[in-house]
Amino acid sequence: MSGFQGRCAVITGAKGDIGAAIAAELARRGAHVFAVDIGYRERSGPETAGAGQIVRLPLDVTDAAAVSETFREISVQAAPISLLVNAAGGPGNVRVPVDQVTDADWHRVVSLNLDGLFFCCREAARAMKPIGGGAIVNISSGAGRNWTRTGVQAYAAAKSGVIGLTRQLARELGPAGIRVNCIAPGLIEVDATREEIARIPPEDRKAHIANIALGRLGKATDLVGPTLFFLGDDAAFVTGQTISVDGGSIMLG
Ligand SMILES: NC(=O)c1ccc[n+]([C@@H]2O[C@H](COP(=O)([O-])OP(=O)(O)OC[C@H]3O[C@@H](n4cnc5c(N)ncnc54)[C@H](O)[C@@H]3O)[C@@H](O)[C@H]2O)c1
Repeated sequence: MSGFQGRCAVITGAKGDIGAAIAAELARRGAHVFAVDIGYRERSGPETAGAGQIVRLPLDVTDAAAVSETFREISVQAAPISLLVNAAGGPGNVRVPVDQVTDADWHRVVSLNLDGLFFCCREAARAMKPIGGGAIVNISSGAGRNWTRTGVQAYAAAKSGVIGLTRQLARELGPAGIRVNCIAPGLIEVDATREEIARIPPEDRKAHIANIALGRLGKATDLVGPTLFFLGDDAAFVTGQTISVDGGSIMLG
């Protein structure tokens, strides 16, 4: 998995456990990583990390104008962006019956998981086309491939949309040398899910784990290898694909 030295990478949702793990490993392998997240208060860095570096920037991915400005600034100040990982996302309120979902909740979740990801892909295409290529990895979810126990209607719809958008962009951007792939994580034990996991009744938890071939929940670091594979030269002939990183919960032919 070579080829990251000196590459300019943007990771959204990089304050979260999954985005942070991916950002750290890309920097360790020499990339100039721009870690963006709505949770950062101010710009910080560059901080040396392994062979590369990380700059942290506040960015709300649902704000199309801000995404446009930030991506343009990065390309001008550093180097043209050639790697993008869209990890910003989240399910919003879970276990709300469909007849009680408000318009605002629906729009908030779709806006974060689908609109925001689209705005970032659009800016990445603008940056990557003139340099002859790049790689994008979109983080979807098992909820985009199958039903979930937690009743996350907008999240399921948006994460399915991410898989469809990945295919469409892969087809459209392939001739420009831009590969677009997708990861669908299963339930990953991170800060954001710890409370929800603790709330699962023991019997349901047992059933959930029994449904995972590898018999455990995921860790943020489980997402790093598959993401770097898609970003790197080893995947030079791979585009439009979604892989589940879920210990073997969903097995598609
Ligand atoms: N943890 C899991 O079990 C799991 C399972 C399947 C998919 N995923 C997906 O993986 C990705 C990373 O999730 P995570 O588990 O690290 O959760 P997380 O909540 O720790 O990370 C998500 C990050 O996105 C950021 N964010 C939220 N709104 C934003 C916005 N408008 N603009 C920019 N950043 C914003 C948050 O501040 C947070 O740091 C998400 O897309 C999530 O849907 C997670």
